[in-house]
Amino acid sequence: MQEQITKIKQQAKEEIEKAESLKSLNDMRVKYLGKKGELTLILKGMGALTPEERPKIGSLINSAKDEVEQLIQEKEQKFKEEEINKKLKEETIDITLPSTKIKRGSKHPINRVIEEIEDLFVSMGYDVEVGPELETDEFCFERLNLPKGHPARDMQDSFYITNEYLLRTQTSAVQARTMLANEEKTPIRMICAGKTYRREDDATHSHQFGQVEGLVIDKKENNVSLADLKGTLEVFVKRLIGDNLSLRFRPSYFPFTEPSYEVDVSCFKCGGKGCSLCKQTGWIEILGAGIVHPNVLKMNGYDPEKFGGFAFGTGLDRLAMFKYGITDMRYLYTNDVRFLNQFDRKD
Ligand code: PHE
Repeated sequence: MQEQITKIKQQAKEEIEKAESLKSLNDMRVKYLGKKGELTLILKGMGALTPEERPKIGSLINSAKDEVEQLIQEKEQKFKEEEINKKLKEETIDITLPSTKIKRGSKHPINRVIEEIEDLFVSMGYDVEVGPELETDEFCFERLNLPKGHPARDMQDSFYITNEYLLRTQTSAVQARTMLANEEKTPIRMICAGKTYRREDDATHSHQFGQVEGLVIDKKENNVSLADLKGTLEVFVKRLIGDNLSLRFRPSYFPFTEPSYEVDVSCFKCGGKGCSLCKQTGWIEILGAGIVHPNVLKMNGYDPEKFGGFAFGTGLDRLAMFKYGITDMRYLYTNDVRFLNQFDRKD
């Protein structure tokens, strides 16, 4: 019987060694240690033994069972480790692969236009200035030759915080600020873009809109003239909207420029023939401009005998609409992602 046990043990050892899966190990557990397993069956045959032999053989069988169980467990452990290693290998992350794309916001069309205008004017030697949106009556009007009670203020009613503070109605306020802040009274070439406000609200006007202001002041002997203003605006409009456009200067009135002009651009939709966009005139008004009024120079510390220059102002919203073919101004302010996504291009 002893021999038989050793033989079974040996055989079990060999089979376990050869086992190739967890399943076959399990089969072996049944085969040797299960209820009808080979070692169990020997236990059952112990009735034929003498009382002296029984405990000896009993403990031999038990230790054989323990040994076999031990071997099976070791092998099981090995299989499990192999499986984990295999999984780890399969699931390793390749950190050299490109990452998933993160969706970023896009530049608003108005900001695109501002950046383009700033780039253009900086390339022509202008500085970029900023001014407050909550402005004083002094800078928004008085220092621009619009004293209190001036009739031209009627066109620019605004949101007054107090009698002296209002939301600025025009970026022209920055003209006065730039001139006054320049203590050395040296020549100025500046551009300023920003938000402006007026008390109006209809299909083609919003209570908040954007403007760009330009101001050039130079020594009288340098003769900054209307020709320079025209040339500058032509470069500006053609570069921003399209090369095949023409400009038209119409006499107009602004208290801070003299002479003053309203500048029209030929309709880019119909090419000047007349359509609904240009109200059948072939022209679209886009700018106010003129030669800086001597009073404005004087009030902001420049001697009109020694200095002169030009100024211009334009609405940003309309420029953005023309540039990108946007048909309704409200798209610019309603934050519809379907609209904004269209500007999500690399450039
Ligand atoms: N500020 C004027 C407006 O808002 C435009 C303008 C600017 C006109 C500069 C002349 C010179 O209507």
